[in-house]
Amino acid sequence: MKIIKAKDYNEMSRKAANIISAQIIMKPDSVLGLATGSSPIGTYNELIDSYQKGDISFELVKSVNLDEYKGLGGDHKQSYRYFMENTLFSKIDIQKENTYLPNGLAENDEEECARYDDVIAQMGGIDLQLLGIGHNGHIAFNEPSDVFPDGTHCVKLTESTITANSRLFDEGEVVPTYAFTMGIKAIMQAKKIVLIASGTDKAAIVKEAFFGPITPKVPASILQMHPDCIVVADEAALALINE
Ligand code: F6R
Repeated sequence: MKIIKAKDYNEMSRKAANIISAQIIMKPDSVLGLATGSSPIGTYNELIDSYQKGDISFELVKSVNLDEYKGLGGDHKQSYRYFMENTLFSKIDIQKENTYLPNGLAENDEEECARYDDVIAQMGGIDLQLLGIGHNGHIAFNEPSDVFPDGTHCVKLTESTITANSRLFDEGEVVPTYAFTMGIKAIMQAKKIVLIASGTDKAAIVKEAFFGPITPKVPASILQMHPDCIVVADEAALALINE
């Protein structure tokens, strides 16, 4: 595991975007595993900038997102499909039919999870997976548990995750309590992983996940076992790591 230190959120975003740009330049038909949330917005803006400058093209890229809220359709403003369309997809030349997320409105959870694992398998797996990290150590919505979940599954979100996510919902809006999430297997099978972390509120979990024992109680800790995992974190997120 390689740790790259950045001064702040903007520098973290530039460094992460540079790694993703290099991936696309080296393999224009890359399969990118993408995340939502606050952490990747700056990275996506940098990638949009590189696209607009003509440095990279997403024409042949395929994307597969980590997760989607159960019960929300793609036109719901809080759905992750909506987030991806607005934050990234509509601003680059990626083909919409090459962008995949779990279907939050799927009627049968098991079938939807199997379908999504199949989508990832048909693509030949993920070339580069971008990840954020939850305050409880979750990656995607693989929450702390007694085992590392394997394939795509429908998960009951923990109170800490629901509280963290509620900041993005309007007052009175119901925050979903279940989500479809990619499992640890597809993430760990990605050829390259880039995890981004920014801010003092991530400092404790960054220390626990990447400098503590590997345990399903801290799902991100398994990334210590990945042969090509890069953590790009700013000074605030690395504040508890001794030089
Ligand atoms: C999002 C996802 C989550 C987030 C994590 C951090 O697709 O899978 O694991 O990466 O909750 O969220 P932020 O970046 O908002 O702190």
